[in-house]
Order: sequence, then structure tokens, then C-alpha cells
Amino acid sequence: MTKNTFETQDLFTTPVYAKTFKNVDNKKIIKYLNKIKHENHNVGTSAEGGIHTQYFFYPFPTVTETLNEEIHKLVKEGPIKDFEVKGTPTIHNSWFIINNKGDFNKPHNHPPYWISGIYYVKAEKDCGDLIFNNNAEMNNYATSYHNYNKYNSKEYRVIPQTGMCILFPSWINHFVTPNKTNKDRIAYSFNI
Ligand SMILES: [Fe+2]
Repeated sequence: MTKNTFETQDLFTTPVYAKTFKNVDNKKIIKYLNKIKHENHNVGTSAEGGIHTQYFFYPFPTVTETLNEEIHKLVKEGPIKDFEVKGTPTIHNSWFIINNKGDFNKPHNHPPYWISGIYYVKAEKDCGDLIFNNNAEMNNYATSYHNYNKYNSKEYRVIPQTGMCILFPSWINHFVTPNKTNKDRIAYSFNI
């Protein structure tokens, strides 16, 4: 910072990326999931209720090929540029989560990865919002604000929609609110 001038610096900025994918065959993915969802996957996760499939690694299921390509394009145009990352990191592992009425995901993050993300294969109003929460313990230092903005907010809410893909740094805490509907909320999650 320079002396004797007024200047503001945003420290340690956290980007969250969103893009809607138009050419992913969600129906085909759902058909595949209907086949595998009752297998016993027995994996420890943030899920409270709901179905968490096994973790997939390379080679990923054929049904996820187009989706993974879209994700890699988004990672290239967003975080690889912004973080000035060396090389071209790709998806390390992925899995599906199906939440039905009352199912949710507890607060967690995704160590030791760099970027994590979610693609919504099926999401409708009230099926469970994705909440990013700020770890700054802002409640302990609170004052009152006219409006909430990027400096004073402790939460950022994403209302999922079918076809939407979200990328975020893997160290950011997040959780999913309970599904209030009787319909499946189907998400494809991944770590890069
Ligand atoms: Fe997560």
C-alpha cells in the first residue's frame, strides 16, 4: 500500500463460479443412478440421510463423460486462470448424492483438494440450498449493517437449479439445507 493516499485492498478473496451446462443428458444419468443407487456403498460423508454413491476415480463412468468435459472447460476458464495454476488439474474423484425429503448435508469442506464442485442433475425449488459460510466468527465481532454485502456477510446461499454447476475452493465450509420436497435432489460432486 502506498503512503498518504486512501486505498482499499480486498484480502484473501474467495471466488465461487457458476455456469449452466446445456448439453448434459441428465435423463441418462438418472437412469444409470437408478441402477446403482441401491448398492451398498458404505462411505463416510457429510450426508444425513440420502444416498451417497461410491467414489469414482479415473476411468469415470461413461455416463459422466460429457459432464466431466464441461467441468474441465469451466475449471480452465475460471479458477485455473484466476489462481494462476501451473499445468491443467483434472477431476480426481467424484460421486453422486441423492437427497429426498428431510435429507441434508452437514457443514464440511474437502481437504486436501484445490477446487471442488457440484453439478445439479435434478434440483427444484426447496430441495435444499447450498450455503457457504464464512469462518471469520463474525458473530463475535458484530455490529449492525444497512445492507449485507461481500464484506459483512457470513453466508452465501446458492439456490440449485437443474443444469447448474458450481465451483469453489475446497477449503470453504459449506452445507446443504434439508430437502423440503418429496422429489429427489440429485447432485454430482467432485474434487480437483
Ligand atoms: Fe461438499
